[in-house]
Amino acid sequence: MNKISTKLATSFIISFLIMDTLLMVYLHQTITHARVNEELDRLLKTGSNHRDVLEDNYNETTLHHIILMESGGERDVAILDDAGNVVQHSLDNEEVLLPYLNQLNEELPTKDTILPVDWKESPYLISVHPYTAQGNSGSLVMLQSTIPIRQLVHRLNIHFILAGGGGIVILFVVYLLLSKWLTRPLIRMKEATEQISKGFYDVDLPKLSNDELGELATSIRTLSNDLSRVKRERNEFLASVSHEMGTPLTYLIGYAKVAQRTELDDAERFNYLSIIEEEAERLKTLVKNLMDLAQMDEMTFSVSRSEFSSTGFVRDIVQLVQPAFDMKGISLFTETGDDFTLVADRMRLEQIILNLLDNALHYSESGTTVTVRAFQNKKQAVLQVQDNGCGIPVDNQQEIFEKLYRVEKSRSRSFGGAGLGLAIVKELTEAHGGTIDVQSEPGHGSTFTIRL
Ligand SMILES: Nc1ncnc2c1ncn2[C@@H]1O[C@H](COP(=O)(O)OP(=O)(O)OP(=O)(O)O)[C@@H](O)[C@H]1O
Ligand SMILES: [Mg+2]
Repeated sequence: MNKISTKLATSFIISFLIMDTLLMVYLHQTITHARVNEELDRLLKTGSNHRDVLEDNYNETTLHHIILMESGGERDVAILDDAGNVVQHSLDNEEVLLPYLNQLNEELPTKDTILPVDWKESPYLISVHPYTAQGNSGSLVMLQSTIPIRQLVHRLNIHFILAGGGGIVILFVVYLLLSKWLTRPLIRMKEATEQISKGFYDVDLPKLSNDELGELATSIRTLSNDLSRVKRERNEFLASVSHEMGTPLTYLIGYAKVAQRTELDDAERFNYLSIIEEEAERLKTLVKNLMDLAQMDEMTFSVSRSEFSSTGFVRDIVQLVQPAFDMKGISLFTETGDDFTLVADRMRLEQIILNLLDNALHYSESGTTVTVRAFQNKKQAVLQVQDNGCGIPVDNQQEIFEKLYRVEKSRSRSFGGAGLGLAIVKELTEAHGGTIDVQSEPGHGSTFTIRL
């Protein structure tokens, strides 16, 4: 039993059979009880009528008249004297009365009574009506055949069996429809996922329906698109990384060859070796940044938070970068306002601000200013790095946070950037549960804002 439709249909049929059986038993009981009670009511009423007539006028004619009225039908009457002997009756065979007479003789009722009999076992329902009239007394016994009730039960059974059988046929049709409507799309989706797992992301899944199956198909389509995008991005990323590493390596090999020339004097050789060192440093930074990002992607690095003062934090960073800004002739300012407590991974937060300051330094001309701010806004810690540099075109303001993205490849290349700094900043900020955004106008400068 491996088909979902078979499982569903089996559960349906079992539930249906349970419900059907309970309902039918209930209906069966209710209908037969109602019918038995109806017969008993009628028996009591007729019996008491006959008794009234008998008490009014007890004579042979009345007796004969009563017997005549009940002859030949499904009902019968017997009139007993006070000793319990049968005076008259309408039965074909008096014998049938015997078991009831025995029951009556044990205790003769003093008012209209229904004799407690089980209609399933007994051929008759019995009511007893005591009478006294003109010196005579005894009981009038009414008998109602249980055959019509039995016939009713039989008919009911046939109807119920037919209804149950019909229900099962309907369920079978539902099963066939289910296997068509449910299993087919599932099989198509299974085939599609198999295709995806083999690396064919271009799956063909039509819009199936608006239900959960349709949603599943949409998810599979989204998954295949995402996988295909990830594959494309990975290839692009590998190509960019190879390119980024290839360039410094070409320089390294080229300058190493030049440095080996015997005709060079010491100063020239020193110059080439310095270039080699610089390119090797650049490669080292690139590899370190790539490792950082890979770690962040794998979620294998952790943020260990501690509490520290905002002004102290900004002061330490500024001290660290001040010489580089002085060298390029850029004024570095701080606006820290009231001191507050920062709760973050101090080393990672330093890495964030250092990366932003590094960009501010690289993408600003000498004579401009860079400002570092730290303040609180609605219980949020806000850190800002603002520069008056070249700015970033609006179209590129989101892409700069992507790995290996640079606005102008040639421009950044001359500054030595690989396009990884902001990707690292973004990952680190998000690892802190914070956000980063940029406001920038080309030619006027940029402001990067971190909110923690
Ligand atoms: N303050 C800024 N002003 C102008 N452009 C910027 C600024 N910061 C970033 N950019 C642009 O965004 C791009 C991506 O920045 P990111 O820091 O990720 O890389 P990078 O600085 O080029 O290289 P890396 O940081 O890896 O050495 C940069 O190449 C630059 O074009
Ligand atoms: Mg950078």
